Amino acid sequence: MAITRPKGTKDIFGNQAALWRYIENMAHETAAVFGATEIRTPTFERIELFRQSVGETTDIVQKEMYSFTDQGGREYVLRPEGTAGTVRAYLENRLQDLAMPVKLYYICPNFRAERPQEGRYREFHQFGAEYFGSYHPTADAEMISLAYLFLSKLGVDDLTLRLNSIGDADCRQRYNDALLTFLRAKEEKLCTLCRDRMTKNPMRVLDCKNEDCQAQTKDAPVPLDYISEEAMEHFTGLQKNLEILGIPFQIDKTIVRGLDYYTRTVFEFTSVDLGSQATVCGGGRYDRLVEKNGGQPTGAVGFGLGLERLLLILRNQNKLPEVDDGIELFIGHMGEAGAEKALRIADYLRKHGIVAITDLGGRNVKAQMKYAHKAGAKLAIIIGDSELESGKAMIKSMSTGKEHEIHLEAIPNYFGLH
Ligand code: HAM
Repeated sequence: MAITRPKGTKDIFGNQAALWRYIENMAHETAAVFGATEIRTPTFERIELFRQSVGETTDIVQKEMYSFTDQGGREYVLRPEGTAGTVRAYLENRLQDLAMPVKLYYICPNFRAERPQEGRYREFHQFGAEYFGSYHPTADAEMISLAYLFLSKLGVDDLTLRLNSIGDADCRQRYNDALLTFLRAKEEKLCTLCRDRMTKNPMRVLDCKNEDCQAQTKDAPVPLDYISEEAMEHFTGLQKNLEILGIPFQIDKTIVRGLDYYTRTVFEFTSVDLGSQATVCGGGRYDRLVEKNGGQPTGAVGFGLGLERLLLILRNQNKLPEVDDGIELFIGHMGEAGAEKALRIADYLRKHGIVAITDLGGRNVKAQMKYAHKAGAKLAIIIGDSELESGKAMIKSMSTGKEHEIHLEAIPNYFGLH
């Protein structure tokens, strides 16, 4: 029986895999110029990590985690996001002992049991970056500018950076009170989950994906109207830094983000080319999270950028680069001796970094040339007894069909080798 891949996942191969490498290389390069270093954390973590960090009343924790119990009875989940694991690893490996601030980045798969649709998958990949050790708005600006530079280098157009501040824990209490009063008047019309969240964590009602709930909360109070003077100063400081960096933004008072760890700054990059899943990158400041996971109070800020959504934008904007598998030469053969020579030449070229392919299984020349064409080789050469005798063969351009004679010994030279 044929078994298919799990719903909401993808197989990536061929040209697509080359595109992924192109994007990942750009992510590595961009993070590096900011002095960020790569971190790779386990694909699964203890369930408590996300309960404690992302929050018990978030969609991620309540509905979307892939969890399992191991042979020892411990409960684990496949990582639904990258920040919690990075904070855990930062503390567990005492990365705070390195030169502070510490900037880390990751490119990794995440897993959420969501309803799959375009731009929303059950396994998806993020390029994320986290900055530990600064409470200053320049750190927020730096993380935003990292994401912005990455997107600009890929040629993405028409993105909107939406910015908001949701304040600190102190401001949150006042805001929660106001929001709860507002929600109480709508209680009857909210879904069961929202009615439950309303008292436990009213802000999470604003993330509900149920359209009726969204209609009810459309005019809800916004956190920005309740933030403290210090939080407002931080917010204006960030805006000033973005102006210095020439990064355009809009203030969007409705952004609250769906994860509990945020304090002060929250932001999203959205694209009109993404349809209903419009956010390609989301992030913000999380000044309480390190402490919550057992560390010293540490200012921190970061983002996660969805690579599948990024690819959708690039495709819709015709910004996907031509990917070339780079096969320089197909070396075909006629007869045993020709195959041996083809093998020797291919081996020499490969050892010197030239992409060379062969088809030494004894197929006829026509079948070999068909393969060379389908595989995308730029040039082809066939070596048989007469070529071995004369020491010369015809080298053919697969795109124009033109051919010319070449000494077999001069093949390495032809590719700039000596
Ligand atoms: P998030 O908003 O949950 O934030 O995810 C960030 C990005 O990941 C989204 O904007 C989207 O592009 C992509 N994404 C999320 N869920 C899916 C999905 N089911 N399918 C496809 N793409 C998806 C976080 O994960 C935070 N950890 C970001 C962060 C880092 N905040 C501070 N540091």
